[in-house]
Amino acid sequence: MTTAKRIQYHQYGGPEVLRLEDFEPARPGTGEILVRVRAAAANPMDWKIRDGGMKMLTGRSFPRGLGHDFAGVVEAVGDGVTRLGVGDEVLGGASLKTAGAFAELVVVEAKGVVKKPADLSFEDAAAIPTVGITAFQALTNPRKPQPGQAVFVHGCLGGVGRSAVQLASMYGVSVAGSCRATATQDARDLGVDPLVEFDFDPTTLRGRFDIVLDTAGTLPIKAAQTLLKSGGRIVDITPTPAKFARSALPGPFKVLIAQAVTKDLEEVARAAGQGTLRLPIARTVPLTRAIAALTEFDRGIPKGGKLIITTG
Ligand SMILES: NC(=O)c1ccc[n+]([C@@H]2O[C@H](COP(=O)([O-])OP(=O)(O)OC[C@H]3O[C@@H](n4cnc5c(N)ncnc54)[C@H](OP(=O)(O)O)[C@@H]3O)[C@@H](O)[C@H]2O)c1
Repeated sequence: MTTAKRIQYHQYGGPEVLRLEDFEPARPGTGEILVRVRAAAANPMDWKIRDGGMKMLTGRSFPRGLGHDFAGVVEAVGDGVTRLGVGDEVLGGASLKTAGAFAELVVVEAKGVVKKPADLSFEDAAAIPTVGITAFQALTNPRKPQPGQAVFVHGCLGGVGRSAVQLASMYGVSVAGSCRATATQDARDLGVDPLVEFDFDPTTLRGRFDIVLDTAGTLPIKAAQTLLKSGGRIVDITPTPAKFARSALPGPFKVLIAQAVTKDLEEVARAAGQGTLRLPIARTVPLTRAIAALTEFDRGIPKGGKLIITTG
């Protein structure tokens, strides 16, 4: 049996529950692949799961691996996997339930994994799966935006926000958004215009947008409605029971839970390969020093880019 190192935990809790330990990866089952991880990226979802805030979905079996987004090399494939083969360089995301990307080896469902564009580094590739596919699905479900349309991205400099700005621009859509007052130059450099602060007055932008994407979950529904054109839609990616209930009603407000759709991830990877989609990397640490970095990540550090964990 192969053993490998991974960051895992034996009970839900704060960052103090994390351990770097040996584990034995399972043999990939039907539809699964084993990937040797070269780089992985942290997302807010990682600590929400580790805290136990999503245990209805993630279950109570331990030890649990941590981390979803990764880039690496396929080491073995399970039955029924024909799209990917041993030696392929890939990027992707582990499922919510299994996680385990902060590791030397991870077993994942192949549907959440695509080939990595050759010119994209493993670090840049690991930065994009979750935020890229979430932004992509927010913009394109149920239909792709058309050139000349307009989107408002609340929190336009976070991982999902930046991805949405770049993908929307790729579709010829104009992008407005909000960010912190100290980061306006960054947002201007991305082409966000008009640009407002988080607590902006929505009446100044009344009725201008086909899509309002709230990446932070802090935009009051009345404000989002004010921004919207007739026939437009509001997408929220930070679900609560009340938001799910509102989302089930007819109307423009919808909660999005991103899904592992292979063709969507392929389009996101293509945009990254073309240099259209790029996430800044704020810090890179080896797996052996990642627990300290993840502890800071819980407190919102580093700012302004992804935390990348490298192996090997
Ligand atoms: N539903 C899904 O499928 C799905 C998928 C991916 C992510 N998510 C969730 O979506 C959220 C964003 O993810 P992410 O990866 O983009 O996180 P992130 O990189 O941490 O970005 C969060 C952004 O929100 C901004 N922000 C902070 N306070 C704000 C406020 N009051 N109003 C507006 N914006 C504010 C932050 O600005 P500063 O950096 O200046 O503080 C930052 O730009 C997280 O809660 C994540 O768990 C959901």
